[in-house]
Amino acid sequence: MSGVCFLLLMLPLLSAQTYHWGPCPTPKVQPNFNLQQYLGKWYEIEKLPAPFARGKCIEINYSIRRDGTIQLLTSQIYKDKKRHAEGTGVVPDPREPAKLGVSFSYFTPYVPYWVLTTDYTSLSVVYSCTDILRIFHFNYSWILARSPYLPPETVRYAKQLLIDEGIDIFRMTHTDQNCKDK
Ligand SMILES: *[C@@H]1O[C@H](CO)[C@@H](O)[C@H](O)[C@H]1NC(C)=O
Ligand SMILES: *[C@@H]1O[C@H](CO)[C@@H](O)[C@H](O)[C@H]1NC(C)=O
Repeated sequence: MSGVCFLLLMLPLLSAQTYHWGPCPTPKVQPNFNLQQYLGKWYEIEKLPAPFARGKCIEINYSIRRDGTIQLLTSQIYKDKKRHAEGTGVVPDPREPAKLGVSFSYFTPYVPYWVLTTDYTSLSVVYSCTDILRIFHFNYSWILARSPYLPPETVRYAKQLLIDEGIDIFRMTHTDQNCKDK
C-alpha cells in the first residue's frame, strides 16, 4: 500500500500528540522470542498514550486461533463499563518472531508490534512504530506485567530500556489497575 493511501487511512488518528517528525527508531527486540510462553494474560502498567485506550484496568490476553493467527483480546473499564476489543496478530517473518504485526479496527492495516524484551513470567515491553514516508511517525509503547502491580524498580528498568533505544517516554502514563468491580 502506498504511504499516501496509508496516511489517508490514519488521518482520523492525526493530532499533534500522536505523530512525530522523523522516521521510526529501530530498537532491538527479544532474542529467540517464544510465542507459546508469551501467551495468556498481561496487565497494562504504563503506556505511551494511545487515543484508543483511555480506560483503566486494561488487560490483554494473547492466544492462538485455529488458523494459526494470534488473537489479542483487550479489555478495559471506561466510563464504568467493561469494554472489549479484539485484534489479530501475525508473525510476518518467522526469522524475526518478536516482530509481530497487529491489526485492530483502529489500526487499519497491520502495524508493527515488537516485543522488545520479556521474561514471559513477569514483564513485557512492547513497541509499535509506523512511519509515513520516513517523514513522520506514530509510536505507541506498553509496559505489561503478569500481575496488576510491578515493582517500581522493574518499571524503571523497562523505561530505561526504551530510553536506551531512542524512544522518548516523556509522555508515558501509568495505567490504573484498581477496579473493584472487575
Ligand atoms: C485468553 O483467551 C483464551 C482464548 O479465547 C481463553 O481460552 C483463555 O481462558 C483466556 N485467558 C484469560 C486469562 O482470560
Ligand atoms: C513517540 O511518542 C512519544 C509520545 O507521544 C513522543 O514523545 C516521541 O517523540 C515519539 N517518538 C519517539 C521516537 O520516541
